[in-house]
Amino acid sequence: MRSSERAQDLGEVFTPHSVVSSMLDMIPNAVANSAFKVLEPACGDGNFLVEILGRRLEEIDANFMSESQFGLSVIKCVSGLYGVDIDETNVSDCRERLQDCLSNFLATKTHPQSEALLQSAQAIIRTNVVVGDTINSPTEIVLIEYTPGEDGFFTRTHFFLEEPERDLFFVELPTLEPMHFLRVE
Ligand SMILES: C[S@@+](CC[C@H](N)C(=O)[O-])C[C@H]1O[C@@H](n2cnc3c(N)ncnc32)[C@H](O)[C@@H]1O
Repeated sequence: MRSSERAQDLGEVFTPHSVVSSMLDMIPNAVANSAFKVLEPACGDGNFLVEILGRRLEEIDANFMSESQFGLSVIKCVSGLYGVDIDETNVSDCRERLQDCLSNFLATKTHPQSEALLQSAQAIIRTNVVVGDTINSPTEIVLIEYTPGEDGFFTRTHFFLEEPERDLFFVELPTLEPMHFLRVE
């Protein structure tokens, strides 16, 4: 807990690691498989997302693969994780912890494209972990779905956390170009 004021105002009481770990142990398949997308609607500083990312990265470690398969797998781990929090400090801390988790993992590897992977991951984390009020204005929260396609490219599609009413004032979200997994901006 950062302060009693924040606990009162934001309900900000972070879940201890042992509890996070026990809870995630109950759903091992969904946690380990990066094809399952995860949304933390009040992510705080990222206790659940960071633990899930760490476990997903460990799965990659367990398998032998080519350099590009490895890189693609890393980006898939990151791109399936979403977090929203009403507080900017929490969002910023959550992003930083996810990046550190990946950076520490890559530091144990000798992958030639670690730096490019980190930069792509950073860009994805910026769009996947965002400030928003999931209770009162989910229709204002816009995220991006990254879908792996051909030759290391991901298609990118905006989506609302909750679909807004498509009335006269509704403005379509812009279409995004596909991005190569080593060059996400
Ligand atoms: C009990 S903490 C849990 C944080 C994290 N999920 C964890 O388990 O460590 C609740 C979090 O919800 C956030 N929060 C409170 N109201 C919110 C809202 N309406 N929309 C999004 N986040 C909210 C707070 O900023 C705080 O980080």
